[in-house]
Amino acid sequence: MVSSAFETIFRERLLLWAAGIHRPMPWKGEKNPYLVWLSEIILQQTRVEQGLPYFEKFKAAYPRVEDLAAAPPDEVMKLWEGLGYYSRARNLQAAAQVVSQQWNGQFPTRYEELLRLPGVGPYTAAAIASFAFGLPHAVLDGNVFRILARISGSDTPIDTTPGKKFFSALAEQLLDKERPAHYNQAIMDFGALQCVPKNPDCPRCPFVDSCVAYQSSTVEQLPVKAKKLVRKDRYFHYFVFQWENQLLIQKRTDKDIWQELYEFPLIETAQLDYTGWQASGLWQDLGLPGSLPVQRTAGPFRQQLTHQRIIGIFREFRLAKTPFPLPDAYLVINRKNLSKFAFPKLIDCYLRDISLNLFE
Ligand code: ADE
Repeated sequence: MVSSAFETIFRERLLLWAAGIHRPMPWKGEKNPYLVWLSEIILQQTRVEQGLPYFEKFKAAYPRVEDLAAAPPDEVMKLWEGLGYYSRARNLQAAAQVVSQQWNGQFPTRYEELLRLPGVGPYTAAAIASFAFGLPHAVLDGNVFRILARISGSDTPIDTTPGKKFFSALAEQLLDKERPAHYNQAIMDFGALQCVPKNPDCPRCPFVDSCVAYQSSTVEQLPVKAKKLVRKDRYFHYFVFQWENQLLIQKRTDKDIWQELYEFPLIETAQLDYTGWQASGLWQDLGLPGSLPVQRTAGPFRQQLTHQRIIGIFREFRLAKTPFPLPDAYLVINRKNLSKFAFPKLIDCYLRDISLNLFE
């Protein structure tokens, strides 16, 4: 831990620094717990500039928590489209339903109660508790881990139990308990603007004389993570069938990425080369002739996720009529209605591809 003298200096200088920056954001100073929660869940997903339009869209579509609770799930998914981690969109609505039904539309006002809402972890609970209710809980997200690891010079890995314990104790110690909202906002802004991951401007930092990492030239090495990210490649072969402006899509329901999003019929393989679809279960299920020619191939398109990279190839086919009998898993839609469904970014890239002549 740090000395109590440093504690005071840290708070004072942090708040002084925050008073000197200009970073207007629509949720700053917001006290409505619904809007605080909404903004924080969205901002966990993305950078502030990218999150802003999503926040405005959700706020306009669902001004009150009850509106979000009652919305059609597909509509919520469509608004979330492009943010990734779609389980968060499902949790968003699940939490809205808990607040509407169990709490009569009023967010709970205690930290422990907030923690019990679906998708609300220690970070979000602390943000709501401090911003909306002025309660003394310190936020600890990736930015704050970085600041604390550098200031203290600790190389305890942040993704381990001892690391989480150490840094959350330090975060609570440093928190200005008289002004938790102010302090939490300041430390978030400090992580976004000053103590940035790469090439921070340390000579102009208010902690240049006390930051252990700066003194020992370890700024770029901190924070430390124990686990290396392992990324695997997956090859998604999509089959786009069209007849009379109709298309075949399906909803992803398995416990896997992109749950609840829509896609074209898919065969996944372990490598890019693939030619055997005429003998596939998909061809059998749809009763398709083995000789069906490919009209066009598009891709590969790539999408990088945290633990995997998806490589997608799209093959377009013309059919004479609706496959019959059509297995339940599939949905026939008019191509004009494509934009009403939420697709993964990879498929959106394909749909936006300007050379997409099948859909002209
Ligand atoms: N990132 C997440 N929440 C934030 C907030 N309230 N202010 C600035 N950046 C943030």
